[in-house]
Amino acid sequence: MHTMLNNLSLAETERWLREPDEKPLEELWAAADAARRDTVGDAVHLRGLIEISNCCTRNCAYCGLRVENKTLKRYRMEKDEIVACAHQAKQFGYGTTVLQAGEDVGISREWMADLIRAIKSETGLAVTLSLGERDEADLAAWREAGADRYLLRFETSDPELYARIHPPAQGKTVSDRPAILRQLKALGYEAGSGVMIGIPGQTYASLARDIALFRELDLDMIGVGPFIAHPGTPLGSQSLPSAPEGEQVPNTELMTYKVVALTRLACPEANIPSTTALATLNLANGRELGLLRGANILMPNLTPVDYRALYEIYPAKACIQETARDCNTCITARIRSINRTPGVGHGGRKRSA
Ligand code: 5AD
Ligand code: SF4
Ligand code: FES
Repeated sequence: MHTMLNNLSLAETERWLREPDEKPLEELWAAADAARRDTVGDAVHLRGLIEISNCCTRNCAYCGLRVENKTLKRYRMEKDEIVACAHQAKQFGYGTTVLQAGEDVGISREWMADLIRAIKSETGLAVTLSLGERDEADLAAWREAGADRYLLRFETSDPELYARIHPPAQGKTVSDRPAILRQLKALGYEAGSGVMIGIPGQTYASLARDIALFRELDLDMIGVGPFIAHPGTPLGSQSLPSAPEGEQVPNTELMTYKVVALTRLACPEANIPSTTALATLNLANGRELGLLRGANILMPNLTPVDYRALYEIYPAKACIQETARDCNTCITARIRSINRTPGVGHGGRKRSA
């Protein structure tokens, strides 16, 4: 039965995205869960997320960190604070630390390279970077310093929608994120990407093409989450148009599970997180359902409590009051509750022979 869900065409993928009935969807969940078990197994690898700076020079139409959001208080963590968080990751048994920030020009090539070297030598953890669109020389220097992986969501494969929601940097043309992802792979990084689900103007057909592009890029990591409106942004204040009636993808929990499951089937070996944005729509068990429908990764937050609320890419984000220890306890219990086990080791991309 499940083999029928391999190698879905664009039309079949779109049909699943539009499927309203629970019965057939049960089949989709089961196929994705079986593919996950066969390829990446029962371990749930943990990536300790450190939101190192909320400064950003860009003006993405969806994101609360955009430079034009003048009401947000900005912070950049000190190197020793960040290294202390990485040590905490190690103590909690996380295999990876993810260093995430806006596109912050205050994060210089050398400062970051030093930080990466410190974390690698002191903890031995895998280091994932999520620092936006940076010069190739920066990316090369950070890889040289020991960074293992890089996350850069392409957000949508529709060029017009992309240009609308992701205006170019000062003096530049619209970025080509798929090209940057290929560059990251050529530098020896494991490359991660993903999209938001239900961006105003996103059609079912374009979302099906997003999933096809995940496969074409042979991504090592794929993170997807619902778009959550932020009132301080153009997309959150409804000033950008929706797709025509019947074509607009809703930014729902159910749609997120469909994309997680279809992504697992399209890219069986990828590491796929059950995301914080999904948890934000369903705090009670969104992450567990993601893990049962194709995902194999969780990203517990390690950011010091004083900064958490300031990393407000969207409102009411899960875990902004909790400490790193709270999140560790919580995540571990959630993994056990569905009879899975916390991963051991770096949890890098597995490749079948
Ligand atoms: N809702 C959901 N996800 C968002 N992101 C940014 N803004 C929002 C939002 N309003 C996601 C983007 C970005 C990642 C770091 O966070 O996909 O790549
Ligand atoms: Fe900056 Fe990233 Fe937010 Fe865009 S999505 S405004 S680059 S933090
Ligand atoms: Fe942060 Fe549950 S993971 S409180």
